[in-house]
This record gives sequence, C-alpha cells and structure tokens, in this order.
Amino acid sequence: MIGLVDVRVNGVRIRRHVPGHFTLLRFLRESEGLTGTKCGCEIGECGACTVIMDGVAVNSCLVLTAEIDGSEIWTVEGLSHGFDLHPIQEAFLEYDAVHCGFCTPGLVMAAVALLNETPDPSEDEIKNFIAGNLCRCTGYLPIIKAIAEAAYRLRDVPRPLLA
Ligand code: FES
Ligand code: FES
Repeated sequence: MIGLVDVRVNGVRIRRHVPGHFTLLRFLRESEGLTGTKCGCEIGECGACTVIMDGVAVNSCLVLTAEIDGSEIWTVEGLSHGFDLHPIQEAFLEYDAVHCGFCTPGLVMAAVALLNETPDPSEDEIKNFIAGNLCRCTGYLPIIKAIAEAAYRLRDVPRPLLA
C-alpha cells in the first residue's frame, strides 16, 4: 500500500507517496537520496541510522513512515552549510573521532540531540547518551572528548543547534 507522507526534512517541506512498509530510514535513503544516514543492523542495535525527529534522537530503522506525518526531521545533511561544518562536526574532525566514518552521522546526530537538551553534559551523561551508538574503530574516547569540546564551544554561541 502507498501512503502520502507530509514532513519537513532539514527545514524543507516534503510531500511524497511512499510504500507503507517503508521505515524512516528507507524513506530518507531510498526516496530522498539522503544517504548520510547509514543502514547498519536495521533492528535498533547499532545507532548508525540515528536522526532527530521532533527534537528527539531516534533509530530511523525502527520508525515507520506512517508515524512521521507532520514531523520535523533532521539528518546529518542538514547540519553543515556547504563547507561550513557544524561545530559538532568540526570537533569530531579535530579530535580524530572519525575513522571509517560509518558510525559518524548517527553519533553526530545523537550529539546534537544531547546538547539540545543538556548543554553542559558530564562525561557520564555523554557516555550514557551515546550508549546505543556503536563504533568499531575509535574506542569511543575521541568521540566523548569531541562531544565535550563541542558542548564547551556551543555554550558561548547563542544560536539554535539546528537551523
Ligand atoms: S540501522 Fe538502525 S539501529 Fe542499526
Ligand atoms: S569510525 Fe568506524 S565504526 Fe566508528
């Protein structure tokens, strides 16, 4: 069955007919070509597919398109403005938190969601928040440092994390 989806993705309104069995992950990647959101396990275990839906980090592989109508969704493509990277992306690069990069979009979006609700997170809060985002390469320490540094920088920047 085909259903009509009416959403905003990265600030742009999209009205699209999509198969009813499509997950948000498949909608983003296959219908909208937003392949920055990665497909790992498709069972909610790896976090590679993390996007922000109505301000909350979600595993897009677990969300059906029937659930997204009227939502505001942000993916990693919506963070940078051309070559002007988001402060969280910059911190990931500076702290060598990107190795193969497969986990990176999901972790960056998780970090955005965390800093939106907790601008000054403790190390334990960072660890807990990204516990559902698996990384096989970095050992996590550079990622935790990058998020802490981004939090420090963003506390002095009076602007929304998503715009
Ligand atoms: S692909 Fe969604 S959690 Fe792994
Ligand atoms: S950088 Fe390779 S999985 Fe995280």
